[in-house]
Amino acid sequence: MGVGVLGVGHFVPDKVLTNKQLEQMVDTTDEWIRTRTGIEERRIAEDDMDTSDMAYLAAERALKDAQVKAEEIDLILVATVTPDTPFPSVACMLQERLGAKKAAAMDLSAACAGFMYGMITGKQFIETHTYKSVLVVGVEKLSKITDWTDRNTCVLFGDGAGAVVLGEVSEGKGILSFELGADGTGTKHLYQNENRYISMNGREVFKFAVRQMPQSSVNVIEQIGLKKEDVDYLIPHQANIRIMNAARERLGIPEEKMAKVIQKYGNNSSASIPIALSESVQSGKIKEDDLVVLVGFGGGLTWGAVALRWGK
Ligand code: ACO
Repeated sequence: MGVGVLGVGHFVPDKVLTNKQLEQMVDTTDEWIRTRTGIEERRIAEDDMDTSDMAYLAAERALKDAQVKAEEIDLILVATVTPDTPFPSVACMLQERLGAKKAAAMDLSAACAGFMYGMITGKQFIETHTYKSVLVVGVEKLSKITDWTDRNTCVLFGDGAGAVVLGEVSEGKGILSFELGADGTGTKHLYQNENRYISMNGREVFKFAVRQMPQSSVNVIEQIGLKKEDVDYLIPHQANIRIMNAARERLGIPEEKMAKVIQKYGNNSSASIPIALSESVQSGKIKEDDLVVLVGFGGGLTWGAVALRWGK
C-alpha cells in the first residue's frame, strides 16, 4: 500500500490587484515587480471573506474530486499563518462547516512550507493504519498581515487556498520520499512584527531559498534511487520566479514541466503549492504515473519536499 492524493481543489478570490494598481499605492513599478519576482497580479479576499471561508471552498472541491464524503475524513490539518483567530483553529471551523463529524482537527504553522509539513504529517497517520482519510489544506489571507505601505513586501503576496485528500493508493504510487527541515537561526529574517505585519530581509531569504529548494528537490529523488532525469513535473513554492527557476535548473527540466502560477497569484505562502498542484492536475499537465516533486520553503526558516508517483 502507498499513501497518495485522492483528490485536489483550490479557491482564489475574484478581486485582482495588478502591479499597475500597486504603482499608485507605493514607490514601485510594474517592470521592477515582473523582472525581480515574476509576479503580474495577485488575488485579494474581500473583508467579509476570512481564511476559514477560503479553506472551506477549497476543501469542498478536493472532497468532491476525491469522491470522499466529509463524514469519512479522520483528520483535518490546516497549514496557515493567517488563521481567523489564534483559537479555535481554522481546522475546527472547517470540521463544523464540512460536517466532518469524526475528524480530529488542528492547524499547523510552518509558513510557506506549511503544506509540505501537513502532507507529511497526514501521510504518517495513514501509513500506520491509524487513519484512512486525511484532509490537508494550505490557506492564507496574507492581505490582512501585509503592510500596504511597505514596497519591500506588499508587492509579493496574495490570498487563496488549496486542499488535498490523502488516502491509500496502490503500492508504488503516492508519496515515495520526503524531507522536512527547519533552521531556527533564521527566525530574524522573516517574521510577523510588533504591528502584526510581515517583516522580511528579502536578500537573506533569497539566499537561503536558492540553496535549499534545489537541494531538497535533489535529495528526495536520490533517496529513492532515481535520477534528476526521472522527474516529470516540478511544483515549487511560488515565491519568486528566480528561486523557482534555480530549483528547475538544478533538476535540469524544461520550463513547461514546472508549475507556474506566480504571475497571476503572487506568493500565497502555504496555499501556493496546493493551488499550483490543483491547477496542474485540472489542466492535464500531471498525468498518471508521473514522478512529481513538490518543494517549499518559508519563514522559520522551514523547508519541505516530497517525491510523488501520481495516481491511485
Ligand atoms: N519596487 C521597487 N524597488 C524596490 C521594491 C519594489 N517593490 N522593493 C525593493 N526595492 C528596491 C530596494 O529598496 C533596493 O534598493 P536599494 O538598492 O536602493 O537599497 C533594490 O530594490 C534592490 O533590492 P533587493 O532586495 O536587492 O532586490 P532583490 O533582487 O533581492 O529582490 C525580493 C527582492 C524580490 C524581495 C527578493 O529578495 C526575494 O524574492 N526574496 C525572497 C522573498 C521570499 O521568498 N519570501 C518568502 C516569504 S513567504 C512567507 O513566509 C510569508
